[in-house]
Amino acid sequence: MRNLTEDNVTEAVLQQIKTDNPRLQQIMNSLIRNLHNFIREVELTEEEWSYTIQFLTRVGHRCDDRRQEFILLSDTLGVSILVDAINHRKPAGATESTILGPFYRAKAPNLELGANIALKEEGEPVVVRGQVTDLDGKPIANALLDVWHASAQGLYDIQDPSQEISMRGRFLTNTRGEYWFRTIKPSSYPIPHDGPVGEMLAEFRRHPYRPAHIHFIVSAEGYETVVTHIFVEGDPYLDSDAVFAVKNSLVADFVLNDSVEEAKRWGVVAPFYTVEYNFKLVPVKKARP
Ligand code: BEZ
Ligand code: FE
Repeated sequence: MRNLTEDNVTEAVLQQIKTDNPRLQQIMNSLIRNLHNFIREVELTEEEWSYTIQFLTRVGHRCDDRRQEFILLSDTLGVSILVDAINHRKPAGATESTILGPFYRAKAPNLELGANIALKEEGEPVVVRGQVTDLDGKPIANALLDVWHASAQGLYDIQDPSQEISMRGRFLTNTRGEYWFRTIKPSSYPIPHDGPVGEMLAEFRRHPYRPAHIHFIVSAEGYETVVTHIFVEGDPYLDSDAVFAVKNSLVADFVLNDSVEEAKRWGVVAPFYTVEYNFKLVPVKKARP
């Protein structure tokens, strides 16, 4: 292990990476090969490597218990959606997954079907409804929908200093697999961009916006849990989501309805929007006997 050159240093490092964990071995071998090949390919300068280390250090310094700049970096470089795609390959017709994002809170309130999750918020009323079924359309009763979204101003409750729970709830489907709840129409919003990830976006003339969406985690016994969003059709950022998370099958029409009678039936004030979205879950693979 002396006199190493740009041509043989990779093999020398690989010789030092030996573990009894075969998966770790595979990951580290590939990481070192790819990292070294990348450095050789671009002929990285010392200034560039030093800048990279300083940038990653600044990313780390922007992390605390409320903000995770490394997840933002992963999201804005398409790494989060790539990991999601590899880990959630689904059969045709199944509801597609997309990224979780940093604003999930595990303790949303359990609510009755029809409840309004945006009681403290101003905005245009929306009735969100649909059905949870299996791939053949058979209704799934008691499926859990964990829902959260941003306000009409584009902020999540956890970005508010008061931290009061708002625009979140957990609903169980009825015996016909149906769900419905009331809320306000979410708007597009910028991801946090006052840190190093924001500087990176600006350098590449990228905007920090996400198209308006509602987050869902849908789970039911015997089925794979799906982490996903419903996006608002017509949003100007659908084709340039800062975190690459839009899929056609997840875009839904928010239909304006000005019927006072129907508004009364749903417990909202006209005019209001309705959006219907049906989730199709994949059964968990049975373990071989
Ligand atoms: C979100 O949708 O909540 C989100 C996703 C990625 C980065 C920031 C926010
Ligand atoms: Fe979001």
